[in-house]
Order: sequence, then C-alpha cells, then structure tokens
Amino acid sequence: MCEPRGKDTKFMKDHSDAYVPALSHDSLTPLYDTLIKWTLPEATFKRELIEHAQISSKRRVLDLGCGTATLTILAKQMHPDAAVVGIDGDGRVLQLGRSKAEKTKTDITFIRAMAFELPYPNGSFDCVVSSLMFHHLTTEDKIRSLKEVHRVLRSGGELRIADFGKPHNLLMRILAYPWHLLEGPKKTNDNVRGLLPQFMRDSGFVEVREAKTSATMFGTLSLYAARKS
Ligand SMILES: C[S@@+](CC[C@H](N)C(=O)[O-])C[C@H]1O[C@@H](n2cnc3c(N)ncnc32)[C@H](O)[C@@H]1O
Repeated sequence: MCEPRGKDTKFMKDHSDAYVPALSHDSLTPLYDTLIKWTLPEATFKRELIEHAQISSKRRVLDLGCGTATLTILAKQMHPDAAVVGIDGDGRVLQLGRSKAEKTKTDITFIRAMAFELPYPNGSFDCVVSSLMFHHLTTEDKIRSLKEVHRVLRSGGELRIADFGKPHNLLMRILAYPWHLLEGPKKTNDNVRGLLPQFMRDSGFVEVREAKTSATMFGTLSLYAARKS
C-alpha cells in the first residue's frame, strides 16, 4: 500500500531552489512549530481539516508539504488504521517531522519529493491533505501540483487544503496586507485573490468549495474541499 515508484524514495533531480522553506529561511525552520502554535489557531484548523477529510479505516492518506508533520501525525493518531505518507521538498524539515513521529510512536512514511513531481503511480491515494503549503508556490507550480494530486488520487478520492484565502471582511483584508508583502506578493497573490478553487477546477477536480473560513492575524484561513470524479 502506498508504495512509491522507483528504488530510491528520495527524488533524483535537484529541486533545492524550487521550494521555499517553512519560514522562508533554513535557519528559522527549528522555530516553525513554536511560531505557528502561537500565531495561528493551529490545533483547531488542523483537527478540522482531518475531520473534514472523510478518512475511514484502511485509507491511504498523503500530506502534501508536510513540513514538521504536525498534521501528518494528527491524521495517523485520529485514524490509526490509515496508511499515512508525508512528503516535503525540504530534507531538513522532514528530519524534524521524522523525529516528532518517532517520539510520538506514530508509524508514518516520509518521502522527500516535490509536490509537482510525486513519486507515486496513478490512483495511489484515497485522500490528499495539505496545510499552509500552496501559498509557497508560484502559479505554475500550484497548477502542476494540483494536477499531480489529481493524478495520484483514485477516482472518488478527496482533496482538502487549508491555506490563506480571499479575505472575507475588511479586517481580514487589512491584516492580510503585511503578510502578503512579507511572504512575497508573487506567490501569495493567487491566495489573496481567491484563485485556488479555480486552479482546482482547472486541474480536473469537481465539487470544489470553500468549506470554511477562519479569522487569523495574517488574514483569512480557508478550508477548501474538492473531489476527483
Ligand atoms: C509553511 S510550511 C507548512 C508545513 C505543514 N504543512 C504545516 O501545516 O505546518 C510549507 C512546507 O511546504 C514545503 N514546500 C514548499 N514548496 C514545496 C514543493 N514545491 N514541494 C514540496 N514541498 C514544498 C516547505 O518545505 C515547507 O515544509
């Protein structure tokens, strides 16, 4: 179940310039968990993301851009019978995720891979979840990653994404602005303009919807749901 293709599960091409580390700089990665815990309603939105994902027993679940694996570990803890895989382009952050999984004794497969080049055959997963990764990607990489997700999902498989979305009121618009500048408007623009649902539809997904919005100090955090027909 969930066997990656090829003998070497680490990806072969050098993509080290094609991802942005969790807090934009490698030296800040060890601070990631503390910062996210104190600045975002992390426990609530990650639990909601997994609850929303309709994972039942013996499901194959992929966490795309798993980072330090907080969501990945939660998915496995909430669904112990599921086979859970976390992938991330950054080997250093994956090492933090692996240590956390070992400490919590959660059996997770971690693979270093890019979201737009997943080392899995078609239809390998029942569900793909992703949190706070898409705003790190260029428009082109968002679309090719969504196409890859669509490819590795089985027919009827579910996609759930939690990421910054279109501000849902004036306060969120004001709060999103400094975040938007700090993270780099080129990549965050699609999120703030609310384009992720359209990108999902363009990549072949159906029943695409913004299932929930939450207010945060960086603007609106959206929970998106979609299905492969
Ligand atoms: C802000 S962190 C989010 C981590 C985790 N999902 C969470 O919610 O805490 C974004 C993660 O996406 C990863 N990432 C960025 N671009 C990527 C890509 N193209 N392919 C795979 N991972 C990527 C980064 O290495 C980083 O770990």
